Amino acid sequence: MPEKKSNRGHLKGSNFAAWGKKAPNILLGVSGGVAAYKAVDLASKLTAAGAKVNTVMTENACQLICPKSFEAVTGQPVYTSLWSTSEEYEIGHVDLTGWADIVAVVPATANIIGKIANGICDDLLSTTLCVCWPLIKSGAVILAPAMNDNMWNNSAVQRNIETVKEMGFQLIGPEQGRLACGTEGIGRMSEPQDILKAIEEIASKIKHNKR
Ligand SMILES: Cc1cc2nc3c(=O)[nH]c(=O)nc-3n(C[C@H](O)[C@H](O)[C@H](O)COP(=O)(O)O)c2cc1C
Repeated sequence: MPEKKSNRGHLKGSNFAAWGKKAPNILLGVSGGVAAYKAVDLASKLTAAGAKVNTVMTENACQLICPKSFEAVTGQPVYTSLWSTSEEYEIGHVDLTGWADIVAVVPATANIIGKIANGICDDLLSTTLCVCWPLIKSGAVILAPAMNDNMWNNSAVQRNIETVKEMGFQLIGPEQGRLACGTEGIGRMSEPQDILKAIEEIASKIKHNKR
């Protein structure tokens, strides 16, 4: 397998600077919300900040945005199936959680939040999120929920949100604002630069605790 070219940059003021030469490995999970296109911007910003970003996409996310977009901005593989052989990639799917320092699910649909709250593992992203329990417990897994306001206010979704918070997931958003369906309400995904900031804060905490 040829070595992947690095396209790491140096975003001014990045907290990843504390990581020195070994910048954090970030596993970006993308589920099937309309805000998935914003995850490409986040992947690009993380890469520019010096992080190594591998992406896992759900089948539904692939309906909304092309895996190639993530591959293009990160220069790293994109995983979309439990059943791909590890020879196709540098690392196998179970190793992904061992590889990652931080996991971020952007956007996190009502569906993926429901799965992780209930231990359901029926695709690569939900299985990976179940396997990364040690990272969840250490506060290194962040979810950026994004959905229609009726979905967000649904009592089953709210129950799942409380469960994932208790499990140790870090949540960013959702925000009040214009929703994809054209209405105003709660459910808009936090902006990529705010998610980047939240990831940088987690990264600097992890680095501090490792010292
Ligand atoms: C165009 C479109 C946009 C969608 N946007 C959202 C969304 O923003 N949030 C959400 O929770 N579900 C959204 N859905 C529904 C999810 O795609 C659906 O619940 C799916 O099962 C999620 O699967 P995943 O979590 O495995 O990606 C959308 C569906 C479509 C067709």
